[in-house]
Amino acid sequence: PMLPRQILTGKARLAGVLGWPVSHSRSPVLHNYWLSRYGIDGAYVPLPVHPDNFEQAVRGLQAAGFRGANVTIPHKEAAYALTDDLDHSAQRAGAVNTLVFQPDGRIRGISTDGDGFVDSMKAEGLFPHTHATERKRALLLGAGGAARSVAAALQDQGLDVAVTNRTVERAEKLADALPGLDVVSWAEWEAQLGMYDVLVNTTSLGMEGGPDPMFRPNLKRAAHHLVVADIVYVPRLTPLLAEAEQQGLKTLGGLGMLLHQARLGFREWFGQDPEVDADLEAYVRATF
Ligand code: ATR
Repeated sequence: PMLPRQILTGKARLAGVLGWPVSHSRSPVLHNYWLSRYGIDGAYVPLPVHPDNFEQAVRGLQAAGFRGANVTIPHKEAAYALTDDLDHSAQRAGAVNTLVFQPDGRIRGISTDGDGFVDSMKAEGLFPHTHATERKRALLLGAGGAARSVAAALQDQGLDVAVTNRTVERAEKLADALPGLDVVSWAEWEAQLGMYDVLVNTTSLGMEGGPDPMFRPNLKRAAHHLVVADIVYVPRLTPLLAEAEQQGLKTLGGLGMLLHQARLGFREWFGQDPEVDADLEAYVRATF
């Protein structure tokens, strides 16, 4: 679909995404779709910034009046270090993917991935209802940065969270960072699946072009109410989700997390809470 191009005035609000490389980022499409949809006088630009120039680039954007920026690979750690005020989400995730330049010159850091995942589950009506008497349980595959964001957000929502990872030391390190997190053996998680209400793949397993695009674990031991989520969004139906469907389980693809996490930054920079709808989903999917 073609959208009318927004004309910028001298009062345009500006934001962007810093990455190296940045050409694969979907963020410009997402944010400019919303800017156009809501007729907002603003722009969101890709900013290819070499790691050596990261701080200089951020200071430059700030000096040039930008509202803020997203940061992606390989800048997330540098962004965390540069931030003056870390939001709760950023402290819990140990990372920053969204910068907000405050009027007083301070830089606020947010991590939107975990809350984006939770919002995406809620938007699809798949978030488990918590009872005072019985806590719900989530099992996460993986122990990288994405796992930490999602685990922290699910814990903050009152779920008991466990992780399993090929490299157990990494899972244990994650458990040190997030008190209350359980570690499950990578060899045994399929057998223990019956204990869980939510399963989330936070690794790149099953991703087109990833380390194992055929990754299709055995879900035969799942409880009938298990919700199976994948943060991978290409392909839309990962082998994990295909297996879940075959077992009659409810599923959630990864695109919703990408769209919902972007909402949080948009709101900060452009002052409007944008809607995630099927139209936007189709528009972004057409760019894959
Ligand atoms: P991100 O920040 O996106 O989470 P990451 O930190 O590189 O990325 O983490 C990648 C995750 O995918 C890890 O949990 C990794 O497992 P290891 O810690 O054992 O490396 C997992 N992963 C990647 N390739 C894998 C594979 N072939 N088999 C099992 N796990 C894999």
